[in-house]
Amino acid sequence: MKKWLLLSLLVSMNPAFSSPSVEMLHWWTAGGEEKALSLIEKQFESLPYVLKSEPISGGGGAPAKAILQARAIAGYSPDIALMEGPAIQSWAALGFLNNVNEVAASHGWGQSLYPDIKAIHQYEGNYVAIPLNIHRLNWMWINKKVLNQHQLSSPQTWESLLSALTTLKGKGVNPLALGEDSWQVVQVFENIAFGVGGANYYREAFVDLDPDALNSDKTFEALNRFRSLANIVGSDLPNMSWDQGTKAMLEGEFAFQFTGDWALGEMLSAEGEIPDHIECRAFPSTEKGFIYNVDSLAFFTNVTGEDHNMTPVMTSLSSPQFLLDFSKKKGSIPAQANIPVSELSRCQRQSYQDYIHASSEGTAMPSLTDSMAVNPVLQNAVSNELYRYFMNSSISAETLIGHLHAINNEVFR
Ligand code: BGC
Repeated sequence: MKKWLLLSLLVSMNPAFSSPSVEMLHWWTAGGEEKALSLIEKQFESLPYVLKSEPISGGGGAPAKAILQARAIAGYSPDIALMEGPAIQSWAALGFLNNVNEVAASHGWGQSLYPDIKAIHQYEGNYVAIPLNIHRLNWMWINKKVLNQHQLSSPQTWESLLSALTTLKGKGVNPLALGEDSWQVVQVFENIAFGVGGANYYREAFVDLDPDALNSDKTFEALNRFRSLANIVGSDLPNMSWDQGTKAMLEGEFAFQFTGDWALGEMLSAEGEIPDHIECRAFPSTEKGFIYNVDSLAFFTNVTGEDHNMTPVMTSLSSPQFLLDFSKKKGSIPAQANIPVSELSRCQRQSYQDYIHASSEGTAMPSLTDSMAVNPVLQNAVSNELYRYFMNSSISAETLIGHLHAINNEVFR
């Protein structure tokens, strides 16, 4: 058979060749994340498109977000991008995003989305992205085997946590799975700050950047606690991604990890269920609360023109069954209310109850370090300062607070 004939036959038989591809840019490169992503890929099977995944590694997505910007400026944005928080509205304001009002109408988002989440996904009255899930950040993941070996019980207060970490270190045990990248480190600060001051303080200081709240004793106390932790784990942190940290904690190389429940997705992916020796406990706090971020998909205007009708796939990505299945892999809870969570793991069920409670009490707070609270310029500036403070013990709390005021005054909000 002639070569060209064979080739055209192959092309027509293989959907990967014959279907146009739709590119999705994201930062889901860990095991649990990839499993969740494969559920999105599956939704495309009924369409004449193939999803082409474009992963950019880096927990929290800073490198992926930088690449997204560079590509958009250069005029070749992807078709779909993973996004979080206020950035969604910035992209919409620049005219890059398709509205998803049809999807919102077919899934009754007016009623089914939690109010905070609804607000983030709207721009000038239009819905402009699809919320998939809610991740909780103020978790402690605890390897109870390690604690038991050293006659320690799970800490419930900051003081007992600090004492457990100190004891473990004294015995030559690695207390905390914490890698050197800034995103991992600064997340811990927001847990500490919430723990010290509760929701009102957290909102005033780290969502509104209110000068009085920033100057308050609570900020000094939170920074002192952050420094105490730095003194225990040291500034020579390992080059370890968050998922390597989760695996190492699971295997007993570390006693604790403080990160969002993407760690749970990793454990579920590796073990099928949460191992008995792993405990999930809210990070110690004077007031109960929930620090969250939301994974959202935004659809760029360049593709979904006339001959790329993606409404069916968008609609299926927002169906309650899909959202539940997605969270089963991702370690999160579904982004829509009224989806029964009895099939989720014990930690996710706790997360759900705590979220419902916190959102009715007004103590559910957006994560600053995970792009939910303020615009990306402010987020990066504040995160950099906090990271430098953690890594360099010669920077005083006064200096740091002075820098936060300057950022607040100078940076466009
Ligand atoms: C995202 C998660 C992701 C985590 C680690 C967070 O910003 O919300 O979906 O698993 O980063 O990469």
